[in-house]
Amino acid sequence: MSVQKEIKKITTNTLLKMKAGGEKISMLTAYDFSFAKIIDGAGIDIILVGDSASNVMAGHETTLPITLDQMIYHAQSVVRGIDRCLVVVDMPFGTYQSNSEIALASAIKIMKETGGHSVKFEGGEEVVDSVKKIVSAGIPVMGHLGLTPQSIYKFGTYTVRAKEEDEAEKLKKDALLLQKAGAFAIVLEKIPAALAKEVSESLTIPTIGIGAGQDCDGQVLVMHDMLGINTEFKPRFLRQYANVNELATAAVQQYIKDVKSKDFPNKEEQY
Ligand code: KIV
Repeated sequence: MSVQKEIKKITTNTLLKMKAGGEKISMLTAYDFSFAKIIDGAGIDIILVGDSASNVMAGHETTLPITLDQMIYHAQSVVRGIDRCLVVVDMPFGTYQSNSEIALASAIKIMKETGGHSVKFEGGEEVVDSVKKIVSAGIPVMGHLGLTPQSIYKFGTYTVRAKEEDEAEKLKKDALLLQKAGAFAIVLEKIPAALAKEVSESLTIPTIGIGAGQDCDGQVLVMHDMLGINTEFKPRFLRQYANVNELATAAVQQYIKDVKSKDFPNKEEQY
């Protein structure tokens, strides 16, 4: 008889209970097997396979170019690295905006081919039909309001959203519509902390903030930013927990030095 590890997996129900019990939810992005293994092993609640992969993995300026197949490749790699956390996969630009049939087909492809547990996409009222359709097919959906990077060419800038009354009112309405449509959580990106608090208190489903203050029900950061791999991006909301860029540069420089000086490999490092 094989001995199986006893692992308590995080589900969308766990997240609802966490909100109800006042326990904050931790979420980070990951895009590959090795980092997913580290992040899941460290005890994270949710891994987001974000379309920020377009920026930090592929080097694009925006999230728009990444394709569904590329997101599926990243998500497959992440799923192979995890035991416990909930995996949310971003639906990339162009795979859900046209209509709810196309959105459902994209979500089904993600679920079938990746083994991920849920999908996320940007928008409020305009995507509510898609949320309903995908949720009725049995696929959990996370919403995303505030700064929605797939609309960068509409906004023209990555500054704080919903500072004005009319945009704040729309966001509050959108959050309630997403909840009513069946979303299990909503990312609130770069909006005033007071607005995020009001929205979080108005919902029974959890909010996950990024640049949205301490009263969201959880927090998310892009892994490359919080680990200091990508050191050029320094918004006010970002706390950098390590300087992996510095560590990796020093290690690579030492390796180059050792190769040039013939110190590496030594007698113990050969056959
Ligand atoms: O793609 C991403 O990394 C995201 C987070 C910023 C929430 O959507």
